[in-house]
Amino acid sequence: MKTEYHIPVLLDTMNMYLINTKIEKHIIVDGTLGGGGYSELIVNSIKGESKLICIDKDINAINHSSKRLENKTASILFRQGNFAEVKNIVNDFGFSTVTGIVVDLGLSSYQLDHEDGFSFMNDTRLDMRADKNSSLDACQILNEYRESELTNVFETYGEIKKANRLSRAIINFRKTKKLETTGEFIRIIQREYDLKKSIPVKFLSKAFQALRIAVNDELNDLERLLSDSLEILSEGGRIVVVSYHSLEDRLVKNFFKSNEMKDDMSKGFKILTKKVVMPEYDEVKRNSKSRSAKLRAAEVVIA
Ligand SMILES: C[S@@+](CC[C@H](N)C(=O)[O-])C[C@H]1O[C@@H](n2cnc3c(N)ncnc32)[C@H](O)[C@@H]1O
Repeated sequence: MKTEYHIPVLLDTMNMYLINTKIEKHIIVDGTLGGGGYSELIVNSIKGESKLICIDKDINAINHSSKRLENKTASILFRQGNFAEVKNIVNDFGFSTVTGIVVDLGLSSYQLDHEDGFSFMNDTRLDMRADKNSSLDACQILNEYRESELTNVFETYGEIKKANRLSRAIINFRKTKKLETTGEFIRIIQREYDLKKSIPVKFLSKAFQALRIAVNDELNDLERLLSDSLEILSEGGRIVVVSYHSLEDRLVKNFFKSNEMKDDMSKGFKILTKKVVMPEYDEVKRNSKSRSAKLRAAEVVIA
């Protein structure tokens, strides 16, 4: 059976919030191209000389999706890069403002299933880098971080309680050999928590997620994107963020709130999603990976 690169989450809802139909000529940024599901719908929804700039850290996403969208290349500009650099990327392509920015955070199914380190279902090298040119990988974090640093990663990004127990077990393992594979990492957890055969999937998800967020510096990238978005979005321009982690959602919610348009401001946001938007039951049934998705959107208002 041919597996899909990625099933897009909240696809139509994302497009509805992203595209301001009052704007004729769009310059839209899809900061997380992935399998190109969002980009395909966006490029089919914009007209004339509008452009779509597609960014992804992962070269596999760029290769896959540039092929998928090859009949649309007149309207699309691809860039392997970090959405945190959105301002520079947009400038490089000759634009100073954009009419829309969307990011769909986290991992694609392809990364989870085929790239090293991301999944606890496969025994692979502890890599977890979305950008394979970046120097920090999960192996380095697990073998070189001090106990307190490891605890901080697992507690902050994984919301694992009393994570020093896990960090100490890792430090003890390191005394015997270098930690190199996801299988070894799982066995450390299994031994430490005396979990015999079955480790609660939730615990593993949290531990892997924490490492992935640290390896890819995900929260800092999101903060940088948010702070530049207000600067580069033109009047009526919109930003949509789909997140899968409570810390990310909180960042987005607070950023929109603290930049909500007030009388004394020259530029600010009108929040389009007064309540966070989540997938309906049917979507979660069809695609269980969508279950933790949270969408927030805002539109730029100029005084
Ligand atoms: C959930 S997938 C996006 C799926 C996409 N919306 C679709 O329809 O197929 C997330 C993608 O974002 C990329 N990514 C994550 N953080 C990034 C960042 N800071 N800059 C650029 N790409 C990033 C990942 O490599 C991955 O391909």
